[in-house]
Amino acid sequence: MTDQSSNQMWGGRFAAGPDAIMEAINASIGFDQRMAAQDIAGSRAHAAMLAATGVITDSDAQAIREGLLTVLSEIQNGEFQFSTALEDIHMNVEARLKEVIGEPAGRLHTGRSRNDQVATDFKLWVRDQFDAAESGLLALIRALLAQAEAGADWVMPGFTHLQVAQPVTWGHHMMAYVEMFGRDLSRVRDARARMNESPLGAAALAGTSFPIDRVMTAEALGFDRPAANSLDAVSDRDFALEFLSTASICAMHLSRFAEELVIWSSAQFRFVTLSDRFSTGSSIMPQKKNPDAAELIRAKVGRIYGANTGLMMVMKGLPLTYSKDMQEDKEQVFDAADSLMLALAAMEGMVKDMTANRDSLAAAAGSGFSTATDLADWLVRVLGLPFRDAHHVTGSLVAMAESKGCDLPDLSLDDMQSVHADITDDVFSVLTVENSVNSRQSYGGTAPDQVRAQIKRWKALV
Ligand code: ARG
Repeated sequence: MTDQSSNQMWGGRFAAGPDAIMEAINASIGFDQRMAAQDIAGSRAHAAMLAATGVITDSDAQAIREGLLTVLSEIQNGEFQFSTALEDIHMNVEARLKEVIGEPAGRLHTGRSRNDQVATDFKLWVRDQFDAAESGLLALIRALLAQAEAGADWVMPGFTHLQVAQPVTWGHHMMAYVEMFGRDLSRVRDARARMNESPLGAAALAGTSFPIDRVMTAEALGFDRPAANSLDAVSDRDFALEFLSTASICAMHLSRFAEELVIWSSAQFRFVTLSDRFSTGSSIMPQKKNPDAAELIRAKVGRIYGANTGLMMVMKGLPLTYSKDMQEDKEQVFDAADSLMLALAAMEGMVKDMTANRDSLAAAAGSGFSTATDLADWLVRVLGLPFRDAHHVTGSLVAMAESKGCDLPDLSLDDMQSVHADITDDVFSVLTVENSVNSRQSYGGTAPDQVRAQIKRWKALV
């Protein structure tokens, strides 16, 4: 007989139970209980397969499958007593199944190991997160498309170095984010397709001598096929890393947009007004309306990168196959997934509710000599100047406007001709921001027609 306190799942060769500190460092039940539904789905598929292949009887499989549903409802109703002594979700569920159905419970773990079990559970969990990220991205893209459509021809300044560069349209700026989140969407879909292979039945590492049917369990769990190498199946965590790297890039995009919203909603810019629903006040300064949601989205990226780097470090240098290090894979993925979904939802909410201030955008669009490039292009097109010379002439005109404290369209024809004698009245037609954006008709350019074409293309895709 073994010591009563030794583990009921693997205590056969143990004379004593673990030290309290050993139990504390070893246990994952504090967090992996989040995979209870996945664990039970995997076990139910496994039990059905064991019966179909004649490894266990139909009546045992039936008892196991029904008992597991009882355990699931206990967990979902908050009635389940999780035990640290039982280490993880797999052993907690199985031990409770034994209490509920008795002897047949002991037959469930035939032809599998906790190594393929945990890989399966975690994959199913991460797969759900890919699906949630896909929905979150689609919703955000649709919200951006609505903003782009409403302001396809609203002018605003485009920036490089956060200095006014050339006028662009509000719709064009929104559509830039549609492209970014669209790539995130495609990364999510790629990674989900790549990860959708079932580890179940790889057993501890080498496969099993029982005549299991891995295709059957793979299908039951919505996988495309079983993973083809049992050693790889239990030691692979690429799916979690791809989730985290995809999430990192997406969070980076979110943070860039969040940063723009913080800047744009300031009193100095007033490009957008965020809704009360997505802002907070100050306890001391009554006039304040703070873009807290945008700031938190900007910050969430830190923990998502941290999770990505953290799991890369856990996996780096691990010999095949399973090592207990890999139990450290989950908490960070859970946290990163929660952060990403929240950030996507908050961004969608902000975008839906925010008002772009057309007048402020237009007023800013003409500032900072934003049509200087249009003037240079006119000198090339109409006077036939080489672009380098046109650039020089335009630079002199900008300097003149600057010294007079006016914008380019405010210079007189005499002023212009004092810099280059051949300039005609026609030049003024290209100095307005409307003409500037309308002229950017190159594919992917900021002209409203181009923007509308891209909106149409995206609307057909999402
Ligand atoms: N709780 C473990 C984990 O999360 C389950 C797998 C345990 N496997 C083992 N060979 N000890 O990774």
